[in-house]
Amino acid sequence: MAFPTTRMRRLRSSPALRGLVRETELRADKLVLPLFVSQTAGEREPIEGMVGIERLPISAAVQEAREAAELGLGAVLLFGIPAEKDPEGSGAYDEEGVVQLALRAIKRELPELLVITDVCLCEYTTHGHCGVVREDGVLDNDETLELLARTALSHARAGADIVAPSDMMDGRVGAIRAELDSEGFSHIPILAYSAKFASAFYGPFREAAGSVPAFGDRRAYQMDPANGREAVREALLDVEEGADMVMVKPALAYGDLIRALARATRLPLAAYNVSGEYAMVKAAAAAGALDERAAVLEILTSLHRAGADIVITYHAKDAAKWLSQTA
Ligand code: PBG
Repeated sequence: MAFPTTRMRRLRSSPALRGLVRETELRADKLVLPLFVSQTAGEREPIEGMVGIERLPISAAVQEAREAAELGLGAVLLFGIPAEKDPEGSGAYDEEGVVQLALRAIKRELPELLVITDVCLCEYTTHGHCGVVREDGVLDNDETLELLARTALSHARAGADIVAPSDMMDGRVGAIRAELDSEGFSHIPILAYSAKFASAFYGPFREAAGSVPAFGDRRAYQMDPANGREAVREALLDVEEGADMVMVKPALAYGDLIRALARATRLPLAAYNVSGEYAMVKAAAAAGALDERAAVLEILTSLHRAGADIVITYHAKDAAKWLSQTA
């Protein structure tokens, strides 16, 4: 019998025909590399739990950004680790804060490289929450919005190409849009972390950024992994408020929502392959349980196939190198 599927399998045994019928093509310019820039690190500091990823002094962040540009990555995404934290997270919107300084340094050397900034307070607050905490221990949503808008504006002033609010406060996309527009930055797009789940997979990031909440958890403002329709609703609210791109985070256990949000919003969609997902692959590879290169390329291709236009991954540099070798 000549089954159509047999014919397709045969076609794929030739590289040229395999390329011709392939549905999804991973490219380096679809990948975004997160960078942890530290105000206290005198040299590169390894991050426990994230083999191969480091806290970077500004000069090293510029080096990493240069490498990202040379590898043809789509962008870098900056996170800041300040010298000092306070209850209001003032390091986040300080014109001389670590992200603002890093932005100017990177943009001076690499004006063409796209730089995205994470807009949140949790790396800058003593309590580790993503906003201003009232005396009763509850987050003050509206007061936080003002500080987030200030943070985004200071990033735009320092040269950010895209700002990405990750705090999950209500109304933050609208507040940031209004602030940017009124200060002459109406051309700066917002990448909204729209569907950000309260996840066990952020563990290594919180160690890296020193942002483990001092009390409670983030379930009051991050989403319940059990809720898919709510994620679509949140994303559509972000679209109404002016989001230009939306994100699903984490990535691996949320393929359904990557697909759903891409369809529902019709905006460019980013998937964040987070720290715990990276750590999992690294640990399994180190234990000899899987082939890192094959596993990573399979994961990134699958996220792309699910509907992610942009994939944020700590494996971005490796993936770009592997892709150029297979090409
Ligand atoms: C800040 C933020 C977090 C991550 C990205 N932005 C941490 C959190 O919400 O606790 C996690 C990224 C990762 O795990 O790689 N709010």
